Amino acid sequence: MAVITGKAPGKIILFGEHAVVYGQPAIAIPVAKVKAAAHVFPDFKSRAGEIHIQALDIGLDTFLSELDPQHPLAAAVNLTLAELQLEHIPAFQVQISSSIPISAGMGSGAAISAAIIRGISAFLGRPLPDSTVSTLTYEVEKIHHGNPSGIDNNVITYNKPVYYQKEQALQFLQIEKETHWVIGDTGEKTPTYETVSDLGKRHAEKPQHYDQIFQTIGGIVQEARGALIKADIKTLGRLLNENQALLCELDLSCASLDRLIQAALDAGAEGAKLSGGGRGGNMIAVASASKMDAVEKALYDAGAVNVISTKLAGVPQS
Ligand code: MEV
Repeated sequence: MAVITGKAPGKIILFGEHAVVYGQPAIAIPVAKVKAAAHVFPDFKSRAGEIHIQALDIGLDTFLSELDPQHPLAAAVNLTLAELQLEHIPAFQVQISSSIPISAGMGSGAAISAAIIRGISAFLGRPLPDSTVSTLTYEVEKIHHGNPSGIDNNVITYNKPVYYQKEQALQFLQIEKETHWVIGDTGEKTPTYETVSDLGKRHAEKPQHYDQIFQTIGGIVQEARGALIKADIKTLGRLLNENQALLCELDLSCASLDRLIQAALDAGAEGAKLSGGGRGGNMIAVASASKMDAVEKALYDAGAVNVISTKLAGVPQS
């Protein structure tokens, strides 16, 4: 039996993080330059049903039976096996690798889960459809940060720009013209569950105050949807800045994010904001094609540990 590889890209939220947890819409895009992969192949040295998991990037090399079932990797494997309901499971090995920065708002956890689910189900001869991959990834996300909105598993599984709102049909965005985005990593790692649960506590204390901010963010996201489809980068820039001001009001930014955002604006970006959980991780800026190099350089000069440029264009609707 050959090696079967399951893959999934990273992602970045353009607009609406955190507010999306409270029912507002948000927009996210896949980032193909970083990805997770799960290589699955037979393990002839082990007994039937034994599953060897290797994730050398995080120093993990063990058997599924040795892992806490709440461990996200174990959960991804177990959920896949439960979904498939096979009578016979051969011994196999899963090798996981990822170039997606961890705890940086780029969906590394969701992408690893989706890659595992795809890799194992294909290896066992029953490749699962995207809708199931997304649902199972969401279940693992709950372990990662307790109260996920569901946007990460969707954008990563379907590998398309999405306009997402809880309990509404998922919309894929068709982008008419290219837009250029620069993602700068502060290098500071704050797990999303920390910022989500901290905001959750503050929201519980003053629900009206926070709901009003979330609603304003929701309005920004709706306007951004149209601007993105038309590739109107002036409007997108203004909306990024407005969204960032509200994220600051929610106390989700930090000195390193503020520094990178200012550097991008000074270098000619049309707008910039933090992306994902906040208090570290990544920021994102939109710029005209001619300003991309200057913005990238400015981000490195301001201390970014990594910069990724990505463009959005002409994605088919489905
Ligand atoms: C994480 O990528 C985005 C957050 O809005 C959390 C979520 O939507 O689950 C912060």
